Amino acid sequence: MNKVLDWKNGINEAEFGEVINAIKNDKLVIVPTETVYGIAANAYSNEACKKIFEAKGRAQDNPLIIHVSDKKMILKIAEQPNEIEEKLIDSFMPGPFTLILNKKDIICDVASCNMKSIGIRMPSSQIIHTIIEKSNTPIAAPSANISGRPSGTCIEDITQELGDKVDIIIDGGKCKIGIESTVVKVIDGIPTILRPGYVTENDIKKVIGKVALSDKLFKKVEKNEKVESPGMKYRHYAPKTRCVLVEKSEEQIKKVNDILKSEDACVLGFKEDREFINIDDNKFILLGSKYNLEEISQNVFSALRKIDKLNVKLAIVEGIEREGLGLSIMNRLVRACENNIV
Ligand code: TXA
Ligand code: MG
Repeated sequence: MNKVLDWKNGINEAEFGEVINAIKNDKLVIVPTETVYGIAANAYSNEACKKIFEAKGRAQDNPLIIHVSDKKMILKIAEQPNEIEEKLIDSFMPGPFTLILNKKDIICDVASCNMKSIGIRMPSSQIIHTIIEKSNTPIAAPSANISGRPSGTCIEDITQELGDKVDIIIDGGKCKIGIESTVVKVIDGIPTILRPGYVTENDIKKVIGKVALSDKLFKKVEKNEKVESPGMKYRHYAPKTRCVLVEKSEEQIKKVNDILKSEDACVLGFKEDREFINIDDNKFILLGSKYNLEEISQNVFSALRKIDKLNVKLAIVEGIEREGLGLSIMNRLVRACENNIV
């Protein structure tokens, strides 16, 4: 049986000691971060990291992000960053940002999947920061979900899916951002976004002067295709129910209603569109306001998780403009819909 600790208003010293002990003893702890919840384990330990792969059913070639508390810890686990990488670290860490750097051998091979590089992230969330700092241990933590499923952003979703597979679950309330960190690798001197997140293309451009988006962000990638980031190859975020994405356009609502005429479906949509969509309330899943991207970002994964509970044949998902945070949200929606777009 696992233990659930409520950390919304802090925890006591004994409970905190249990969390640190669990990490030191190669156990798994579900920890909230500002982006999504993670399944955390000691990044130095092959034994501990193996358990993460087992709990998630994660592909053996998909490396884990390593979470640190400060810059000193980055230099302990990675080779010296170059000037551009250093500037990215100073500008975006702590925060929802992951930088790929060459790793040092101290990080275990299971966490890095024997790659020469690792993704490094310094979360701004106080809870995980305190755990890393006080245990003086870098933490390997993928998103808290079974591989392929939407990432976990609230404790109810996570307990249902992973409750019996971990030792401690820390409840920190709903995650503030709701989608995972922006993953960046500097390639030939250009910061290249391998996974879009809360830190946008424009944010990076403002600091470095140049930025590129991986050409794979919205593509279906074949299993044997060469990719910069292994995570791009796998089915992701997808509900079991078939989903279709209706792109933003003047005809968006009409297209949704047309599909509804012939399909047993639910709709993931926006507050402003609700009254124009011909569907019962219990089959309308709210993504938020279309004028509030932060709200959509916060809701998107728990909204996707609601689809399978409705027992419908199809989920119709309203899209937004692929710009700024909107691009990052659309990256998740396109993948959830497995590139089925109208
Ligand atoms: O916000 C986040 O990043 C969350 C929280 C828990 O910190 N973590 C997260 O981890 O999303 P995960 O494992 O679900 O996604 C990590 C992504 C994967 O797509 C993986 O392939 C990529 O980062 N990645 C990790 N190490 C890499 C490396 N060395 N080179 C390229 N991509 C890497
Ligand atoms: Mg993930």
